Amino acid sequence: MTTTQPMHPLAMTVNGQPVQAQVPARRMLSDFIRDDLHLTGTKRGCETGVCGACTVIVNGRPLKSCLSLAVQHNGAEIRTVEGLAEGEKLHPLQDSFERCGGLQCGFCTPGMLMSACALLDRTPKPNADQVRKDLSGNLCRCTGYSQIVEAVLDAAGVAHGN
Ligand code: FES
Ligand code: FES
Repeated sequence: MTTTQPMHPLAMTVNGQPVQAQVPARRMLSDFIRDDLHLTGTKRGCETGVCGACTVIVNGRPLKSCLSLAVQHNGAEIRTVEGLAEGEKLHPLQDSFERCGGLQCGFCTPGMLMSACALLDRTPKPNADQVRKDLSGNLCRCTGYSQIVEAVLDAAGVAHGN
């Protein structure tokens, strides 16, 4: 016997575009973003809140979207990695990650970029300790992290080694 889950209306802004949908109450925000909106830049890694690959920005704050229900964000303003570049022009963080070697396999990169973007929006000139602290919820298996910190400082126009 199949049961039909009740659906709930959801309205939000995603990367500046209004989005309206009907979702089951238990649909995770990460699944809604990837499977319903087809914004697959946001990654599913651990799905337990550990790796940070699913990080998006919700109302200006980084959020691990695998831990949060879509319906909790009715009315929210959400940014995903797809919203960073302007057409062909990369966001300064994307440009710096590429130039500074802040990515290798790239799986962690969307989450790293969104955590870094939220940091720079709040603190345009962070020091290295602030970058490390704000990216501490994002795991990377490839880079050893120092190039990521360097890339964020580079994007902020802060001299390396601060
Ligand atoms: Fe969300 Fe790992 S997939 S924290
Ligand atoms: Fe591979 Fe970070 S670049 S996990």
